[in-house]
Amino acid sequence: SSPIFTLNNGVKIPAIGLGTWQSKPEEVTAAVEYAIKDAGYRHIDCAWAYGNEQAVGEGIRRSGVPREEIFVTSKLWGTYHSKVEQALDESLSRLGLDYLDLYLIHWPIHLNPNGNDPVFPKRPDGTRDILVDWPLSKTWEQMEAVLAKGKVKAIGVSNFSQKKLEEILPTAKVVPAVDQLELHLYNPQHELVSYLKSKDIVPQAYSPLGSTGSPLLSDETASALAQKYELNTADVLLGYLVAKGIVALPKSVTTARIMANYKGAIAAAQKLTEEDIKVLDGVAPGGKQKRFIMPPWGVDLGFDNWA
Ligand code: A2P
Repeated sequence: SSPIFTLNNGVKIPAIGLGTWQSKPEEVTAAVEYAIKDAGYRHIDCAWAYGNEQAVGEGIRRSGVPREEIFVTSKLWGTYHSKVEQALDESLSRLGLDYLDLYLIHWPIHLNPNGNDPVFPKRPDGTRDILVDWPLSKTWEQMEAVLAKGKVKAIGVSNFSQKKLEEILPTAKVVPAVDQLELHLYNPQHELVSYLKSKDIVPQAYSPLGSTGSPLLSDETASALAQKYELNTADVLLGYLVAKGIVALPKSVTTARIMANYKGAIAAAQKLTEEDIKVLDGVAPGGKQKRFIMPPWGVDLGFDNWA
């Protein structure tokens, strides 16, 4: 089964989890059920904003595996930065759960909670309705409060650069347990990952395969290693992250891939040598070559390297 990492508060986290972004509600129940019951996953990554939490929760229940054996993450959307507990309660009720294992600030962006759209409020000129008068440290305080109440077992962040982390760390009573980022062979963010390790924050990789239509799956270096070890290229891409202490969250709603990714990631993480990892680390020299996920506020966050 999946390697297990330990978070900075002692909570254990399976190093491979199923991603659910862009999984349609009508597909994701079966995908989650299959992942847990048949493929062996014990970690499901979801978010309020994915619009499918109810269907994910149904899949968790249908798996028949006890709740306490499954690690479930959800994320706080930007329109809820000033009402964290309310957002968490909505996610819990949609999932049909009474606690989360991990709750993350989805983006370091506070969106207008009274805007014209619940997910992506816009200004009259069409730009995103981002509020600048809400410090992230206040959002973090509310995250700490739901942790203290026992509604979640760990709290963390997502899409936070070092600069954004430094906006909360000086006043934080609890150091974030994780930072979930777009991390993969072409966007390894070596510097940020080292910084996270120095702070005992576990990096998590979303879109570890480079998302839909990815060129990573035909990368020559990864494919050559896959051939050497009789694995799929996807296995090498996932195992590379896990071997580096990064939680990998591949998304799939296809049973064969759900199974293959889990087994393959475990096998690759064992087989890849330090030398292989070094070679893979060098595929995107300098670390930040190709980001595939670009939110509307990406440029504001310094995501200026989008290919
Ligand atoms: P699907 O869900 O239809 O199986 P990422 O995790 O990087 O966001 O990538 C998810 C995308 O990659 C989805 O389009 C998913 O399709 C596809 N995918 C997932 N696993 C594999 C795999 N082993 N080989 C090829 N494509 C995959």
